[in-house]
Amino acid sequence: MKKTSPKKVNGLGYRDSSFSSDHHQTQKNGAHNMEEMLQSINFLRFVLDNVYSGIIVCNEHSQIIFMNKVYAELLKTDPQEAVGKNIKEYFPGSRLSHVIATGIPELGQRCSLKTEAVLLVNRIPLKYDGKIVGVILQTVLRDYKDFTDLVRKLNMLEKKVKHHEMALETIFSPKYNFDSIIGESQQIKEIKLLAQKYARADSPILILGPTGTGKELFAHAIHAASNRNLGPFVCLNCATVPKDLLESELFGYEEGAFTGAKKGGKPGLIELAHGGTLYLDEIGELPLAAQAKLLRIIEDKVLTKVGGIRSSEIDFRLIAATNRDLQEMIQRGEFRRDLFYRLNTMILNIPPLGKRPEDIPLLINHFLKAAGRPECRLHKETQEALGHYHWPGNVRELKNIIERALSLCEKDELNLEHLPVEIFKPNLTINMSGNSDTSLSQKMSNFEKTLLLNAFQAAQGNMSKTAKLLGISRSVLYEKFQKYSLAPSKK
Ligand SMILES: Nc1ncnc2c1ncn2[C@@H]1O[C@H](COP(=O)(O)OP(=O)(O)OP(=O)(O)O)[C@@H](O)[C@H]1O
Ligand SMILES: [Mg+2]
Repeated sequence: MKKTSPKKVNGLGYRDSSFSSDHHQTQKNGAHNMEEMLQSINFLRFVLDNVYSGIIVCNEHSQIIFMNKVYAELLKTDPQEAVGKNIKEYFPGSRLSHVIATGIPELGQRCSLKTEAVLLVNRIPLKYDGKIVGVILQTVLRDYKDFTDLVRKLNMLEKKVKHHEMALETIFSPKYNFDSIIGESQQIKEIKLLAQKYARADSPILILGPTGTGKELFAHAIHAASNRNLGPFVCLNCATVPKDLLESELFGYEEGAFTGAKKGGKPGLIELAHGGTLYLDEIGELPLAAQAKLLRIIEDKVLTKVGGIRSSEIDFRLIAATNRDLQEMIQRGEFRRDLFYRLNTMILNIPPLGKRPEDIPLLINHFLKAAGRPECRLHKETQEALGHYHWPGNVRELKNIIERALSLCEKDELNLEHLPVEIFKPNLTINMSGNSDTSLSQKMSNFEKTLLLNAFQAAQGNMSKTAKLLGISRSVLYEKFQKYSLAPSKK
């Protein structure tokens, strides 16, 4: 193949360029048009000098025919002096000839300078009439370090996004399902069955029951078993937020809604629960105005933020819970009757633990397993003491007592000394004023039994000390322990 000799070039704007498609036309139109063309070329040079990228244009022999100011500054050279030189004078390992030979662009490639700086460049072949007539060398990033910094920043941002996504997932997804609700008592079986039926519907639910009975557990389980289980599960305990902040927390607010309001406003928890379930614990603590607004939102399915005029459609299921007597609150004018009637179509009454003692051993095993101590056993006396306790704090209290006992016991057996003193205190209110079908002698026996256990615990299981504390002889103490099936075997 005949080798063509390199043309003498003076650079864009100083001499004619073989890349100008207007070249022949210009010659025809004479000197006037030549002047115009030179003006255009000067304008083009001006533009190319002022872009952020460095630009070098080479002909098909790898000779530079144009270098803009940006590249000249990077290479610490004069752009006009560079014209006519071979690209290898600036980039000894240049791949330009390869691009000319293949006609394939190389994008985002690393390219080292003599100064050891590394650039990120594009090498773009120029085709004219189907032939490769040159290459544009363009910097994408003037310093490769910029690029690595960007990548590093991007990676960091990605990590942060992932972290927040995971945090949101843990906040907004249900932690429990119906299998997490432990209990085989008739009461708990029935209430689980009813809750499973409610889960399939979409009306608001009201969960009633004393503290620690598992109301929140049921709310999680209902959400997890509902059609909304892929949506968020958002919780708010109305008792934990100051009353004057409750509305903005629940409904959100627009920018400038009040002094101290965040720029851009804030979404409320109802908005965050869109497509999912909102669990409002202690609903009795909601101020009357907020109750009215909540009722309107449930009925109209439209939300207006605090200080806002725009309304948006909202789709969430409300599960409310309380351990207060809402009927009594209605009488006192503290709870809206209309909201109560909206909520009470689906009610779940969670029974207190004291009313389902058969669940206690199952729950104990569950908490032992959860604490990683499934092998741990309860001494018979410990079981009895727990069985006789009235559990004002319900399952939560049982869980705490087991966790505390495990932290105190060194072997795999929980004894009386590992239980808190509350367990042995007589439940005077229940024993004395409660159950009318308990006879006086039964009440007296219960009381005596509790006093015995109380003293036994205070004496850390030492029978002589227990007898001393109670002011009775050791043999009387053993008799009484035997009577109530409490006695540790006589040594
Ligand atoms: N049936 C159960 N099985 C297993 N764990 C339970 C059960 N009931 C309650 N718990 C546990 O007891 C603790 C208290 O439950 P939860 O918070 O659901 O009670 P609550 O009724 O909402 O109480 P409060 O009225 O004080 O808000 C939690 O740790 C929960 O996991
Ligand atoms: Mg709760």
